[in-house]
Amino acid sequence: MGSRRDAHTGDRPTSVSLRRAGTRRPRQWRLRRVLWGFASSVAQVWADGEVGEPTIPISYTRTWGPIWLLRSKSTMLAGMGDAGDDGVLWTAVDAYLADHLIAKDDVLEAALRDSEAAELPPIQVTALQGKMLQMFARMVGARRILEVGTLGGYSTIWLARALPEGGRLVTLEAAAKHAAVARRNLERAGLMGIDGAPVELREGPALETLPQLVAEGVGPFDLIFLDADKEHNAEYLQWAMRLSREGTVIVTDNVVREGTVLNPASEDAVVRGTRRFFEAVAAEPRVSATAIQTVSGKKYDGFALLIVD
Ligand SMILES: C[S@@+](CC[C@H](N)C(=O)[O-])C[C@H]1O[C@@H](n2cnc3c(N)ncnc32)[C@H](O)[C@@H]1O
Repeated sequence: MGSRRDAHTGDRPTSVSLRRAGTRRPRQWRLRRVLWGFASSVAQVWADGEVGEPTIPISYTRTWGPIWLLRSKSTMLAGMGDAGDDGVLWTAVDAYLADHLIAKDDVLEAALRDSEAAELPPIQVTALQGKMLQMFARMVGARRILEVGTLGGYSTIWLARALPEGGRLVTLEAAAKHAAVARRNLERAGLMGIDGAPVELREGPALETLPQLVAEGVGPFDLIFLDADKEHNAEYLQWAMRLSREGTVIVTDNVVREGTVLNPASEDAVVRGTRRFFEAVAAEPRVSATAIQTVSGKKYDGFALLIVD
């Protein structure tokens, strides 16, 4: 019943034999063509968006677009490994968003340029993340900010610019080379090295400088950004609690690490440190916490957001 058979062979016609014979295509085959075309278009829009020059040639997305989409999706779902093509997409979207939302800023750009020239690792927050931190600080009306992990001072500049007159930011950095670059960047930004400048940079391992802050009675801080060695984030949380008041906001960066945080058997000290951090948060009755997964030019990661109750 149903399908016609070849008069000579008695075989059911395939879509290929039908096409050869110039016969109308079966509905299923046409539907597949339509879906493929649609997925190709979506892939092209994803690849190019409105971010200027196409990053992926049209011929590529026409042919491979649907497969590329599926691969992107599966990589995201798997949540691990190299971001591959997804990284290209996330970087392009970051560029698009930054283009619309972040004003050109010579001081921040110079900070990035000099950090790169000094061969600091390019592991600072993105511009969009820096602005998000700045907006967090503004939202809570932060007058005192603590940062653990300065690098070249890029996030420090974003955060310090949120401070009102008379506000203060203490940033902690272990590497002398990083601290030297950060000082120059912060001085150029007018945030350090002049009377009344708000930023103080303390050099040394944070597990030494944090107890000093407690001993000196510095704080409490209104916002604390944990962004140093992830191995010690659980310990940094304990010190951060001692430097907090009710309402202090604590932001901890890089807590997803391309999904590797899921692996309880990981030998990686950073993954183990991150898992210990979440265990410490879960066991801390004095905080409300959440965590957000992010994708960006910095791959697939995330940050934790805590409020001290
Ligand atoms: C991810 S980078 C900080 C990036 C910076 N917050 C930004 O977004 O511009 C981490 C920094 O923490 C520093 N660091 C590593 N271990 C540290 C420790 N035990 N104490 C203080 N700083 C440390 C590293 O030298 C590096 O400069």
